[in-house]
Amino acid sequence: MILGIETSCDETAAAVVAEGYKIRSNVVASQVEIHAPYGGVFPEIASREHVLKIVPVVKDALEQAGVTLRDLTAIAVTHGPGLAGALLVGVNTAKALAFANDLPFIGINHLEGHIYASWLEGTGSVLTDSAFPLIALLVSGGHSELVLMRDHGDYQRLGGTLDDAAGEAFDKVARLLGLGYPGGPAIQKAAEGGSANAFKLPRAWLRGTYDFSFSGLKTAVLHLVQSFEGKRLPVADIAASFQAAVADVLVEKTVRAAAELGAAQIVLAGGVSANTRLRKTMLARAEVPVVIPPVQLCMDNAAMIAAAAWRRIERGERSGWDLDVAPSLKLASR
Ligand code: KG4
Ligand code: ZN
Repeated sequence: MILGIETSCDETAAAVVAEGYKIRSNVVASQVEIHAPYGGVFPEIASREHVLKIVPVVKDALEQAGVTLRDLTAIAVTHGPGLAGALLVGVNTAKALAFANDLPFIGINHLEGHIYASWLEGTGSVLTDSAFPLIALLVSGGHSELVLMRDHGDYQRLGGTLDDAAGEAFDKVARLLGLGYPGGPAIQKAAEGGSANAFKLPRAWLRGTYDFSFSGLKTAVLHLVQSFEGKRLPVADIAASFQAAVADVLVEKTVRAAAELGAAQIVLAGGVSANTRLRKTMLARAEVPVVIPPVQLCMDNAAMIAAAAWRRIERGERSGWDLDVAPSLKLASR
């Protein structure tokens, strides 16, 4: 039974997970409304909110799971990547709890957590160990990477974004369209009433690589918006066309990687994998089984951190008191 703690961005989260996949509790205190007026996450405010929320959130997670700290096997905490001040709150809380209760603790990579959301119960078809090799499409606010996993804990980066992360592109285009923050859900909602074929937007294929680029698409949307100056902006059609362009490139690259590398499964991970268009397109075009966590588990949470920690703890891995926050922590070991 592992207590997971996550404070890398604007969610204060704690969860208790048994055997790496049974969710006993999963508490998330979102700060999204606090940051919305700034149009993005305000780092200093995020840290201070974590300081206010972390103890009540941990307490709730333990109570909802019906356990006490004495029932735990270990404590797992996100130590990167993310905002330094935000990460510090989680890491220090985990260290204090581990020290006071004589428990092992382990620092977990937030991106590894997103991938392990696919092993949590509630994910229709829970991944088994025969899922390897698998291709993970990791798309969040700060990251867009295509990763080959040959085994647990073994990550090879195949490619990634050359400019904006997919979530960042959603957030910036939402701003251009006058939609709120966070942009992903706002664009998805606006796109419901629009046509994905209304506007022909560019897709950066970057052939021969597994890399992505969204800056050209973003600029194309900017020019499109400018061309409507003084006229009514067709927000729904632009949102739908933009969303389709992002999904097309992400899916095409993932499906090709899966075929070329003989993957047994595809895993969708990160906040952007909550996107309905991306989920549907991936399910329609993939030639191997696709595992996509339910929307709640795609967003930042601590159950995924506990899930990622499970096999590491079983293997005897531990962090020491010298564990530091790592704001630019990478996922791939090679
Ligand atoms: O993984 P996440 O919750 O936080 C990070 O680790 O960055 O991802 C947040 C990102 C934001 O950019 C948000 O706009 C995007 O995920 N997002 C979406 C959707 N829901 C969240 N993007 C597209 N469609 C969605 N439905
Ligand atoms: Zn995330």
